[in-house]
Amino acid sequence: MDALEGRTAVVTGAASGIGFALAARFAAAGMQVVMADIEADPLQKAAVELRAAGAEAIAVPTDVSNGDQVDGLAARAVDAFGPIHILCNNAGVGGSGPIATLTAADWAWAIGVNLWGVIHGLRAFLPGMLAHGEEGHVVNTASMAGLVAGPTVGAYCASKYAVVAISETLYQEMSMAGSKIGVSVLCPGSVNTRIHQAARNRPDQEPGIAYDPNSRFADVVGGMSEMGGFLDASAVADQVYGAIVERRFYIITHPEWLQGVKARMTAILEDGSPEFRAPI
Ligand SMILES: NC(=O)c1ccc[n+]([C@@H]2O[C@H](COP(=O)([O-])OP(=O)(O)OC[C@H]3O[C@@H](n4cnc5c(N)ncnc54)[C@H](O)[C@@H]3O)[C@@H](O)[C@H]2O)c1
Repeated sequence: MDALEGRTAVVTGAASGIGFALAARFAAAGMQVVMADIEADPLQKAAVELRAAGAEAIAVPTDVSNGDQVDGLAARAVDAFGPIHILCNNAGVGGSGPIATLTAADWAWAIGVNLWGVIHGLRAFLPGMLAHGEEGHVVNTASMAGLVAGPTVGAYCASKYAVVAISETLYQEMSMAGSKIGVSVLCPGSVNTRIHQAARNRPDQEPGIAYDPNSRFADVVGGMSEMGGFLDASAVADQVYGAIVERRFYIITHPEWLQGVKARMTAILEDGSPEFRAPI
């Protein structure tokens, strides 16, 4: 996608972290930005911040796991700015717990936000993006946990593997149809955000739940936080921006972690087992 100025981007999970950085990056490029998030107050503050910097930005409180609310987001976005050009299905929650201990509510929360959020986003926006006939791009936020599995992050990995599969399928469908809609999947390693506090948005605040939302993926997979390598969200947003302009599909923020992907692929090709290894 070449000319982003004057076009419209929708970003979910835009009140914090990677989503806010994406919204700010698009605003800096002269785009109109529709910011969606379940946390209404921080979302309003984030939109005010971008408007103060001269951007055209609106805040639409949305729970992406709720299909009706995502339909409402799409209607509001089109109403405000007309055709939508960039869709970032980015909202997500993290947490951990051994599979044997996860409750149905644990699974429902992770799959509801991380997977159904992406599905609802595509369902609500993609037909309109195809119909208007202008260039566009979809970015789905998965994770390195969508390319390699790790112990105690089964629910998170399940949701993110599915996001990678949907994104790969969508890429194939768009390119086979000669569509003007590009597709990328964002697979971050460790990024300095509030994902470790994802429980703040969990609808059921039951005590004693197995899916411990205070545990951070990087901590779970072998103390990687101590190894450094946490990127700023703004650096990730720059990578996403570049991938949209250059039409690149896989956005890998931590290429050194691809050793884990290689080990997984080798195990598949050589009839091995999915032994756990730290990504670096
Ligand atoms: N931070 C990392 O290290 C990392 C690594 C890999 C993938 N990711 C992914 O990046 C994406 C963004 O996360 P982040 O790291 O910026 O975390 P973050 O917590 O800073 O931001 C996530 C945003 O999503 C919002 N959100 C949560 N549930 C929602 C819902 N039901 N509906 C709408 N919004 C909701 C939160 O309010 C928050 O503003 C997520 O999909 C996450 O899985 C993050």
